[in-house]
Amino acid sequence: MNNSTGKICIVTGGAQGIGYHICSTLAAEGYAVVMVDCDQEALDEAAETLNAPDLLPWRADVTKEDEMKWLFASAEKNGWNLHGIVNNAGISRNTSVTQLTLDEWNLVLHTNLTSIFLTAKYGSPLMNRGCIVNISSTRALMSEPDTEAYSASKGGVTALTHALAVSLGPKIRVNAVSPGWIDVSRDKKTSLKRTEKITAEDHSQHPCGRVGRPQDAASMVGYLLSPAAEFITGENIVVDGGMTRKMIYI
Ligand code: NAI
Repeated sequence: MNNSTGKICIVTGGAQGIGYHICSTLAAEGYAVVMVDCDQEALDEAAETLNAPDLLPWRADVTKEDEMKWLFASAEKNGWNLHGIVNNAGISRNTSVTQLTLDEWNLVLHTNLTSIFLTAKYGSPLMNRGCIVNISSTRALMSEPDTEAYSASKGGVTALTHALAVSLGPKIRVNAVSPGWIDVSRDKKTSLKRTEKITAEDHSQHPCGRVGRPQDAASMVGYLLSPAAEFITGENIVVDGGMTRKMIYI
C-alpha cells in the first residue's frame, strides 16, 4: 500500500454506514485504509464508490479469532506501518430480555465488544505509536426497552476503552466515540439502501437542531487519530447533537 503519510488505519465494519464514512475521511486525510467487513457485496460496492488509491478491502468477520489473527499476521508480514485501529463493526438485536436467546446475546457481545479485545490483542503489538478508536454509543449511557445486549455491549466498550488506554499508554492512545442517532439509511449497499422518514420532531429532539449524519462521527474519529488529540486518551466522546443532554418531562 502506497500512501502519502505512510500510515495505515484499519477500520472494521467499514463497508457501510458510519464505517464507510470513517474510511472516506481517513483516506482524504492521507492514510492508507484497510476496510474490513464481513459482507463481500458491501465491500465490493464501497471500494468502487470510494475509489481511493490506498484502500484495501478485506473480508473478515470480527467475531472470528482466526480471521483477526490472519489480518494482523498479514499486516506484520507485509510490514504495514499501523497507526490506527477503528473498531466500528456493530450490530443490535431489539428483543425482549425474555425472548432473546443466549446465542443472540453472545453474537451481539462478540461483535460489539469481544472483537475489540481481539484487535487489541493481535494489533497493538504491531503499533509503535498509534491510536485505537472504539465506536461505542449513547446507549452505553441510556436505554430504550428491549436493548439489553446492545446496551451491555456498548457499556463494555466504554469501560474497555479506559482499561486499554491505561494498559497500552503512552505508546497507544485509546478513545471511544459515542454517536447518538445517526441516520445511515442511505449509506448502505444498494440492496439495503432506503431513505428513512425523519420528522421535524425527530430533528427538534436534538439541541443542535438535527438528527446526526455519519460524517459527524467520522470527523471525530479523524480528530482522535490526529496529532491534535495527542493529550486525549481513555475518553468517551459523545457525538449526539446534545440529545442526551436534553431533559424530557412527559
Ligand atoms: P451499519 O449496519 O450501517 O454498518 C455496520 C457494518 O459492520 C456493516 O457493513 C456490516 O456488514 C459490518 N459488520 C457487522 N458485523 C460484522 C462482523 N461480524 N464482522 C465484520 N463486519 C461486520 O451500522 P452503523 O449504524 O453504521 O453503525 C456503526 C457503528 O456505530 C456500530 O458499532 C454501531 O453500534 C455504532 N452506532 C451507530 C449509531 C447509529 O445511529 N447508526 C448510533 C450509535 C452507535
